[in-house]
Formats: sequence, C-alpha cells, structure tokens
Amino acid sequence: MTQGCEPMTNEIDRARPAEPRGRGFAADVLDGLSRPEKRLSCLYFYDAVGCDLFDEITRLPDYYPTRVETDILASHGEEMLDGASEEAALFEFGSGSSRKTEILLERAPLLSLYAPIDVCASALDNARARLAARFPHLRVSPIAADFSRPVALPRDLAEDLAGRRRIGFFPGSTIGNFAPEEARGLLLAMRLLLGPGGRLIVGVDLKKEPSRLIAAYNDARGVTAAFNLNLLARINRELGGGFDLSGFGHQAIYDERAGRVEMRLVSRRRQTATIAGRDFAFSRGEAIHTEDCYKYAVDEFRAAASGAGWLPGRVWTDAEALFSVHELTAPLQ
Ligand code: TRP
Repeated sequence: MTQGCEPMTNEIDRARPAEPRGRGFAADVLDGLSRPEKRLSCLYFYDAVGCDLFDEITRLPDYYPTRVETDILASHGEEMLDGASEEAALFEFGSGSSRKTEILLERAPLLSLYAPIDVCASALDNARARLAARFPHLRVSPIAADFSRPVALPRDLAEDLAGRRRIGFFPGSTIGNFAPEEARGLLLAMRLLLGPGGRLIVGVDLKKEPSRLIAAYNDARGVTAAFNLNLLARINRELGGGFDLSGFGHQAIYDERAGRVEMRLVSRRRQTATIAGRDFAFSRGEAIHTEDCYKYAVDEFRAAASGAGWLPGRVWTDAEALFSVHELTAPLQ
C-alpha cells in the first residue's frame, strides 16, 4: 500500500482502543467474540458491500447528519477555509465518497493538494477519478488506511507537503465513533500531523431527543440493519464463519447518561456459531456490541478539543441545532 516514511505519530498508541482492532480481521474477531461482553470493531463494517451500504445510509431520509452537515458546509464552507492559500494541503480522515469535500474544494479553488485517508479502497478510487476530472489543478494523493492508526505517508506525498500549511477535514461525526479517551488521543494525533498553525474542520453530531437519534440508526428501510448484519456476513465470507444471519437482529439504543447511541447485533435464540474451528455460544437476547456513536453538546466538544491541545475557534450549526461543524486551530508553539 504505502511506503513508509514520516509516520503520522505514535501518540495514538497511547489511546489503544477498547474495541478489538489493529491485529487483523481474524484475530480481532476471535478476540472480540471471546470477551464476556462480545464485541466487534466498527472498522470491519467497511468491506466493499459495507462501503456501498454505508453510502446508502448517508442518503436515507432518517439519517439526518449527512444532509444537515452538507447544508452547513454549503452555507459556510468559504469561511471555514478562508485564508487557505494555494500552498495549503487538505487532509481528510475517513473520506468515503469525498462528496462533502467537493463542496469545500469548490469554495477554495486555490487548494492544490488533497490527501484523503480511508479504509474503503474502492471509494478512494472513485473519488480520485471524480475529483481529478472536476478539479484539474488538484493533486489527489489517496491513502488506503485506518486513520486511527499511525499512517505512513507515501514518500512523494511527504515531499510535496514540505512547507505547506495543513488543513484537516474530519466530517460525518466519525469522531463520535471513538470513546472519549480515544477521541482525545485521535485529536492529539491529528494536531501533530497537521502541525503548528494547522487547522481542523470537524463535524460533530449534537445531543438531541433520543427518538430522533435512534431513528437515524434504525431507519425505516432497514439499511442500517443490513449494514450492521453485513459484519456477520463478512465473517462468514472471509473467515469461513457459520453465522446464521436470520438468528440475529439489529438494535440501536441511546444511553443518555453516556451520551451515545449503541449499535448491537442481538441473538434471537440460544445458538452456537463456529468461526475458524472455534465455537461461540450465544444465549437468547445476548448482544454483540458493534459500534458507539457519541453525541456532544457544542461546549462539551470544545472542551474535548482543548484537552487535546487544540484552540477551539468558530462553530457552525443548523437552525434546528441538529449538527455542528467546529474549527480548531493548532497553537503555533
Ligand atoms: N460516524 C457516523 C455516525 O456515527 C456515521 C456512521 C458510522 C454510521 N457508522 C454508522 C451511521 C453506522 C449509521 C450506522 O453517525
């Protein structure tokens, strides 16, 4: 994939995820299913099928975050990137289809280097082709990697970055998929990658009535359910797993005290699934935890960012206060 040089930073290792992630699909699945409270990492949602389902989620009427964040970017994108010169480089963490980025790029015609990082290689290819056609002067340098681990920058990208001001874009409330301690580690790693004077534009879903939140993660059309269940289907496909998909149901609950939506796969009956020769027993109603989506009040997120050494700047929200986009600046010293 990438040839190592200039690692993103090792700081992130300090915030080793509580979820089973980082040792490869097979090892992480076996680890997660062996725990007293079974758990699979949300990183593994994103195989080719999962990437397509995720793209579909972002277009669902119930899934308001994409729509609302897109509107905020369209209204305020120019301000978000004001002062960004030709030499500035834009990094994106979890870029997916890069559709939101396109809105920013339209408003910052001087930006000449874009480095999207995503685990979905197919989405990166599509985005690169589309953006290259649309913005001929833009150099697109995709990195297929899990941005929450130290990222090795390809040598030519590292060279091209010399002397450029760096701007990070982290939309989609993906920061909410990390527990607060991990989120802090990640924001810190991003600050170090973007360097003194760097800027981060980050999208954060806001706390609101639970019914609205739950509908976003348990849509009427069942796409989120299919997305969640695809994790078991992927284990069957890639690890020769024996999950009976009809034996599990999708669940999304809001834990108000923790301020997070939790996604789970719940066993509909007592059953055993065999994966790589190992048996995993499930009682009826037993859950596999697959993802957390933390929600923040505006001030809570600003405090979290300060805790990672960022200077919180401007905040943009929609009229209904559903979603927020924050500007963070890295101190010069
Ligand atoms: N990070 C976004 C969120 O928490 C998008 C997302 C990640 C998502 N995983 C998801 C949305 C699963 C729906 C279902 O909202």
